[in-house]
Amino acid sequence: MACRICSGRLHQFADFGSQPVSDAFVTPGDPREEYVFRLAVGVCEDCSMVQLLEEVPRERMFHDGYPYLSSGSAVMREHFWSLAERFLATDLAGDDPFIVELGCNDGTMLQRVAEAGVRHLGVEPSGGVADLAAARGVRVRKDFFEAATAAAVLAEDGPADVIYAANTLCHIPYMDSILGGVATLLRPDGVFVFEDPYLGDIVERASYDQIYDEHFYFFSARSVSGMARRHGFELVDVERLPVHGGEVRYTLARRGARTPSPAVAELLAAEDAAGVSDLATLTAFAARVADSRDRLVALLTRLRDEGARVYGYGATAKSATVLNYCGIGPDLVSFVSDTTPAKQGRLTPGSHIPVRGPEAFADPYPDYALLFAWNHAEEIMAKEEGFREAGGTWILYVPEVRLVRA
Ligand code: SAH
Ligand code: TYD
Ligand code: ZN
Repeated sequence: MACRICSGRLHQFADFGSQPVSDAFVTPGDPREEYVFRLAVGVCEDCSMVQLLEEVPRERMFHDGYPYLSSGSAVMREHFWSLAERFLATDLAGDDPFIVELGCNDGTMLQRVAEAGVRHLGVEPSGGVADLAAARGVRVRKDFFEAATAAAVLAEDGPADVIYAANTLCHIPYMDSILGGVATLLRPDGVFVFEDPYLGDIVERASYDQIYDEHFYFFSARSVSGMARRHGFELVDVERLPVHGGEVRYTLARRGARTPSPAVAELLAAEDAAGVSDLATLTAFAARVADSRDRLVALLTRLRDEGARVYGYGATAKSATVLNYCGIGPDLVSFVSDTTPAKQGRLTPGSHIPVRGPEAFADPYPDYALLFAWNHAEEIMAKEEGFREAGGTWILYVPEVRLVRA
């Protein structure tokens, strides 16, 4: 198996076995067999990029029925709106600036740019969410971004001042085509800004549920700076973000166009000191993950045997890995509550636990709630006052399996 970035040798360090497509919620009674693939992760011995060993065809994941909505969390809406303000105030130059977002989803970020009357384009292959963005006044192109898309956008709209991608770049295995496209579309002094789950946080917190079909790459400052260089770019800034369980926002510029901020060298040094992409660290991570699985299964089995009522909270893509790797089904978690319309009334992929709207969570409240959307814990715990008053207990599994009285 060769590295998708540099063709170097990959060393596998974790294997989650056969897994379904994480956002492929099943319609009850649908007789079609679910698509499965082998979810295993390796690290490149040359460029240190951590990546999946098997790729799921993109049309199986991103299509008109893709259910994930960026606007599903109030914290995330604020996060994207404040970034839009920053782009508008500081990163767009000239009389008629142009900003492009890859994977704009339901248009949460670009909505603010559209409202400001600034030229923009969202490139989004999943038709359902792209329609929601258009309904918010966002200009959308229903397409996968790649080299050919970049050339077409350049011909129609001219060069971009800023190209932005949140939780999207790490989804795309074909990086040569993407960074080639960015090089085509970006102004000479423009920036490519992207934010994705950070390898350092995943390893530190043993948040193995970040590993699923859509998350193909697990970036670090080290791997991103090497990847940038291969395409004539330079990593000029990094910013750690608290969202989605720990992310880094990377800024690339054309080599020599901008002076790298001190934060880049600091994060590179911290990663080297922690040995974040060392095979030994990653092998130890895999052992901690297996231990976490055993503890979670033991806890849920005990609660079932005691007759406790356990619901899941948040039918996240992340939960597909937890449920299928741990072998958790409706006997251990009777249903999962989720606010996303396209997930409700369906079954979790592979594990077939029913998904219901949030009203079912309170009718009646369970004894325990397994928080699959742990990355939104603060927001959710604040909102679920009633669960606290009813004496409920949260079950968390990141950074370790534990009970938290609501
Ligand atoms: N940026 C949003 C959505 C992240 S989900 C947020 O952070 O909340 C990832 C999105 O990337 C999906 O909407 C998916 O359809 C889109 N996507 C996948 N491959 C893509 C590609 N090649 N070009 C553009 N978007 C892509
Ligand atoms: P998220 O953790 O953002 O992403 P992923 O699917 O990539 O792992 O998903 C959060 C899910 O939780 C999403 O389906 C919406 C749902 N949710 C609720 O049901 N209630 C809430 O209060 C919040 C914040 C999210
Ligand atoms: Zn490599």
